[in-house]
Amino acid sequence: MSEAIKIVEVGPRDGLQNEAHTISSEEKVQLIRHLKNTGLKNIEAGAFVSAKAVPQMADSAYVMEGLSMLGEGVNLPVLVPNLKGYETAIASGAKEVAVFASASETFSQKNINCSIEESLGRFIDVFEKAKEDNVKVRGYVSCVAGCPYEGRVQSKQVVSVVEKLHEMGAYEISLGDTIGVANPAQIKRLLFDITASIPMSKIALHMHDTYGQALANIYGGIEVGVRTFDSSIAGLGGCPYAPGASGNVATEDLVYMLNGLDFASGVDLEMLVRVSWYISELLGREPISKVAKAMGR
Ligand code: HMG
Ligand code: MG
Repeated sequence: MSEAIKIVEVGPRDGLQNEAHTISSEEKVQLIRHLKNTGLKNIEAGAFVSAKAVPQMADSAYVMEGLSMLGEGVNLPVLVPNLKGYETAIASGAKEVAVFASASETFSQKNINCSIEESLGRFIDVFEKAKEDNVKVRGYVSCVAGCPYEGRVQSKQVVSVVEKLHEMGAYEISLGDTIGVANPAQIKRLLFDITASIPMSKIALHMHDTYGQALANIYGGIEVGVRTFDSSIAGLGGCPYAPGASGNVATEDLVYMLNGLDFASGVDLEMLVRVSWYISELLGREPISKVAKAMGR
């Protein structure tokens, strides 16, 4: 039996949050249905954040309602920045949420309008309520390798935020290379520092591909024991508060590599490539993914 890798598909959130061309709620629901049909079991479906901050995610409640008949066997986490977001998400049917902190002070201010410390304070309320409701909480740490405003980020800044999210009860912590500047040596060193206090099984990598290093960073992570990776269909995405950053590693590029390495992702590559072309055409362009281009429509 091949060893399993968990993929968290973030295209419908991290991908679409950065698209100038807004697609309808029905099209988002359809995209998530198609993604589920490829075998993906974790699909980030939206964000319950301020509509002024990220207008592309303003319809997340409608999207969640549209997904209520999606059936069993798929987790649909959504981002929440505070208790208000958590409560709206749960009222819309969310069963899993993700909070997002940053390892860089300036990015924290730009992204969520508060310091790292204040953001962690807001998450305490989310974790407490989620515990009462039996809802799983994932944690993100952004800017683990570099910040668009502060440059290089030191691993001790990352470790401190990861440890706090772990203490608060995050079941998994995803390390975001928000601006896609990391290299495999840096990622391995960071993982070494983090796993002095946190089990590797709790860590996920969320690699943006701005400098073309995302797959190499993931491979570095695999070599040292990471088994959970975030990726985005067609390589969509970026962060509205990280100017110039491109999308996540494309899910189809990740699955192609995992297939070659004999890891089991449970995802059908041909179907995934069809979904990649489907969403890219809806957005009026070609997929960024090399695998989608190579395999064609
Ligand atoms: P603020 O202005 O400091 O908040 O924003 P506030 O509490 O003063 O409220 C201001 C207004 O926002 C009020 O409305 C609130 O009701 C409303 P008004 O009275 O002006 O009409 N509000 C909300 N509305 C909907 N949902 C909520 C919510 N909370 C307050 N949950 C806030 C603070 C965090 C809300 C804002 O800055 C925000 O929403 N930021 C979101 C930023 C974001 O979504 N960024 C992208 C996702 S993170 C990412 O992409 C990185 C990641 O992929 C990992 C990686 O790559 O590194 C995860
Ligand atoms: Mg991201």
